This record gives sequence, structure tokens and C-alpha cells, in this order.
Amino acid sequence: MDKIVIEGGMPLKGSVRISGSKNAALPIITACLLTGGWHKLSNIPRLKDIETVKSIMSKMGVHFREEAGYLEVNSDNLRDFEAPYDLVKTMRASILLLGPILARYGKARISLPGGCAIGARPVNLHLKALTEMGAVIELDHGYINAYAGKLRGCEIFFDIPTVTGTENLLMAAVTARGKTVLRNAAKEPEVKDLASMLRAMGADIEGDGTDTIVINGVDNLRPAEYSVMPDRIEAGTFMIAGVITRGEIEIHNCCSEHLGALIEKLESAGAFMRLTSDGFLVKGPDVIESVDIRTMPFPGFPTDLQAQFMALMSVASGWSMIRESVFENRFIHVSELRRLGAEIDINGNQALIKGKESLFSAPVMATDLRASASLILAGLVAEGGRTEVHRIYHLDRGYEALEKKFASLGASIWREKV
Ligand code: UD1
Repeated sequence: MDKIVIEGGMPLKGSVRISGSKNAALPIITACLLTGGWHKLSNIPRLKDIETVKSIMSKMGVHFREEAGYLEVNSDNLRDFEAPYDLVKTMRASILLLGPILARYGKARISLPGGCAIGARPVNLHLKALTEMGAVIELDHGYINAYAGKLRGCEIFFDIPTVTGTENLLMAAVTARGKTVLRNAAKEPEVKDLASMLRAMGADIEGDGTDTIVINGVDNLRPAEYSVMPDRIEAGTFMIAGVITRGEIEIHNCCSEHLGALIEKLESAGAFMRLTSDGFLVKGPDVIESVDIRTMPFPGFPTDLQAQFMALMSVASGWSMIRESVFENRFIHVSELRRLGAEIDINGNQALIKGKESLFSAPVMATDLRASASLILAGLVAEGGRTEVHRIYHLDRGYEALEKKFASLGASIWREKV
């Protein structure tokens, strides 16, 4: 198992290129199950979660080849419809296999993802919506068994705007009989990116990026060539890194419309931000001001940047309040930030942070993907020696070569085998 070692105190300087989005790439890869032929995908990040979805799909008979920066995917010979527990348990997003497999083959057996470190995270809304489209779904010893003839279009209202739920239903609906309307749909850019991929495959979709998506089922799809959007969470992590280290970095290959809520908050914290042709220039202030945030579905402040923003507020000049309103129990990074000297009180879904002049180095343990990034950000400014971040496999699920990118910006950071 690896750990990341950081000697804090260096302001980051230079430029960094953001990788393709994990959360867009995952449904785009599973969308390739909807029709045969070779799909050609680019800007796919090199991440553990991508390897996991490829392993599950390979086991099912899907072929992958990598050539000249493209990931090519072919599902002509799918022979197995099961996503087994031992793989699904490492990646909740495996549920994204359900919609496309059911739509194309009329049956699927996917292990229930179960709970995870950030709360219960059920998939009841996915299952309810698929049932409304005519699927028969049984839960059997921890597995979802789903059957359908031809799915039929209908009106679906999501009680909560669920990102992967909206994506699953988009994929299920593109070849369904008739029209499907998804109401209270997720508006996240990754949903829009999936819809663009599906349109490139011949789907008829309108309204993605709003809370009402209309899909007219088509008889045939075709293989597509598609480039995945940049990872807005990785970009946001680097923006916060520039500010927390009082550095100055240029962030390339990212999109300002995806990061409006974070930009607003970083400017309120005193950061200087300038748009460039393909991203931003970010400069940290001498004094970081405290600001409050509340996580919300897009275009609100992303829950996937909450932990990183908390690291920033730990070294701000006063008190700040962070409210987590997307997930329950998403403050597990707090106890580890406290080990680095952060002063944080938790009350339910609210965290009250008293900014400190400095943090100090300590060994800490990553508890989930975004928590790992927050500990590394804190480690970049921790004083008095080495911060070691253990259980770094969480980080490798969702950040491509994060420590190498930070090192290229002048940070003293490296990976060690334990
Ligand atoms: C996706 C992202 C994740 C991000 C999250 C919120 C991927 C692979 N993951 O996760 O990084 O943190 O969106 O932006 O894209 N809910 C239910 N029932 C359901 C589905 C969801 O109650 O059937 C609840 C969840 O518990 C949560 C809320 O809805 O409280 C939103 O979750 P959701 O948008 O579904 O998150 P994911 O799609 O799992």
C-alpha cells in the first residue's frame, strides 16, 4: 500500500493540465454497451475507477483497446450480464451498468453497491424509475436482478435530483418505445456530457443541463467518437491548492462555467482569478478570508469540493460555516484535519471552522476520495516536517497522478511504498 509524503510550506507556481472527468467518463464508457461496433473515446483519465469499470465490462465480454490516446470500446460479444459484488463493492458507480445493459439485452444482474464511507447512498430512485419504464426488478441476496422486454417511455419524477440516477435513466430511455420525460433531473455538467455522447450515437435528447430532460426513443444507435469533458473537481482542487499555498498557478483544460460557485467563493476569500483561453490563472492572497459555503446540486457548490474547501478555511483569518446538504455523514475527513491542527466543530450537517495561522505536520489517514485530496491540501501548508497521508488508494480512484502534478508545481511531495 502506498502513502504520500509532503513537506509543506512551498507556494505552488507554474502550470498544470487537468485530466478528463472521472464522473463523465464512467457513464460514457458504460453507454458504449448500448450498441455494437467500435466506439472511440478520448480524454479518458488514467484512474483506478476507470480500470474497475473496464474490468467488469471485460468480464462481461466487452473488448477494449487503447491506441494513440483513444480508448476504443466494443460490446458486440457481450456474453454475461452480471456485475459481481467483489468488483462493484470498490466502486459505487458500477450501478451505471444497469440502465444500458437492461435497455439493450433485456436483463441485467448487478450487485447492490451498498453503503459507503459517505452515508447510505441508496439507489432506490434508479430502481423506481426503471420500474416505471416497465422493468421488473427483484432484489436477491444483495443483487439487483432486472428484466424487461422493450422499455417504454413515461414521465419520471425524481424525488431528489440524482446524478447517476439521471444518467442511468437517460441511457435506459434512448432506445425505449416512445417519449420519456425526466423531471427534477440532475443538471450536472457530467449529465450533459453523457447526453452529448448519446446524441453522437444517434439519440434524440433535449433539455439536458436543465431539470427537465426529454428523450424520444430511437430504433437504432451507432458507435460514436467522443472526447470527455475536463474534470471540474480536479480543476477545483488545483484552484484551492493555488490559494491555500498563496501560490500562483495556471490551470489548463478546464471550463469556467463548470466552476462558478467555487470561483465566487474563492474570490470572496481574497483570491485573484483571471480567465485564460483554456482555463484560469489563480493567485492566492496574503490573508485568506473566511467564507461560508453550503453544498448543493449543480450549479450550487459541489459536495465533491467540500472537504478541500474545509482545508482552505482551516487556515483562513476567522470563523466559517460549511453546511453539507447533499450527503449525510460527509465530514469524516474532519478528525484527520484536526490531527493537523485544524479547529473544527461539527453539529449534524454543519461544520464550524476557526481559521488558524498555520497547521502542523502529522501522519493522517485518507478515508475517501475527496477527503484524501483535502488532507494533501492541508499537508501542503502544514509546518514542522513531514505529513504522511496513508490509505492513498482512495486518491488513485479519482485523481490522475495528483502528487506528480503538485510536484511539477514546486511542492515537496512524493509517493512511498509502505
Ligand atoms: C454522483 C457523483 C459523486 C457526487 C454526487 C453528488 C458519480 C460517479 N458520482 O454520485 O461524485 O458526489 O453525484 O454530486 O457521478 N439518493 C437517493 N436515492 C437514490 C439516489 C440518490 O436517496 O436512488 C440521494 C443520495 O443519497 C444523495 C443524493 O440523492 O443524498 C444525491 O446523490 P446522487 O446525485 O445520486 O449521487 P451519485 O450519483 O451517487
